[in-house]
Amino acid sequence: MQIIHTISELRDLVSAYKKKGKVIGFVPTMGNLHDGHLQLVKMALAQSDIVICSIFVNPLQFGEGEDFEQYPRTLDADADKLDKVGCHIIFSPAVDEMYPKSMGGGRDQTQVSVPGISDILEGASRPGHFTGVATIVAKLFNMVQPDKAVFGEKDYQQLQVIKRFVRELCFPVEIVSHPIVRESNGLAMSSRNGYLSTDQKQQASALYHTLENLKKKITNHSSKKTPLEYYAMIESNAIENLNSQGFVTDYLTIRKADLTMPTGQERNLVILVTAYLGNTRLLDNIKISF
Ligand code: PAF
Repeated sequence: MQIIHTISELRDLVSAYKKKGKVIGFVPTMGNLHDGHLQLVKMALAQSDIVICSIFVNPLQFGEGEDFEQYPRTLDADADKLDKVGCHIIFSPAVDEMYPKSMGGGRDQTQVSVPGISDILEGASRPGHFTGVATIVAKLFNMVQPDKAVFGEKDYQQLQVIKRFVRELCFPVEIVSHPIVRESNGLAMSSRNGYLSTDQKQQASALYHTLENLKKKITNHSSKKTPLEYYAMIESNAIENLNSQGFVTDYLTIRKADLTMPTGQERNLVILVTAYLGNTRLLDNIKISF
């Protein structure tokens, strides 16, 4: 496995592989890798000849007062894990390589913004977050030129934002999604789980159990209420319940698969939840087809 830090080295490697007709798979990450990331790499390996994993903590997607400084940088441990699963190349650039000060640094450079979907839910709570994500992913796609890129479904809204800009800006890359990878207690794997104490990790699994419970309620709905009245009632009961268990729920919402509001007629829905446990912001979601 090779570890490279510059765009020019990356371009040289990629163009040599492309000349040989190799299919390039790509897994963008911010490092501090857990089993969820490794599953994405395994999926990329199964579908391509060469897998490149980027490790870059992207300042542009963090707002003021968020955990950019605190975010764990664990390149050596990450490299060991990636080597073991068979990843071919790690691209781990410095901030100045991605957002050169000579070009004004990140926020004064060209950015990719995806209107509408970037402003709701996670985007409403973290203004500018999805522009930061779309910008770095677009830059990485231009550098890596992957045939396929694999993203986890835990960041459901991020996945929709990326699919939108890829389609609308005609990037020649196939977006592949991987189901959420969970701990044995149901907690969705996330680098931010490292901020939780052992007790909090146990407590945090309530998010998943809440989603499972709501999924059952929606699937078996037989009350006299209309679907929309029923959704509103079970959303607010679930929020109350989570808050009484020590969470501070930012949102818990039942949406259509494209994240717009349901009409009550849909058979495919997604429930998204974001809640703080102490200072840690946790995200989870569940898809429903009935
Ligand atoms: O999901 C992440 O880890 C990040 O948002 C991503 C896609 C690597 C962009 O920085």
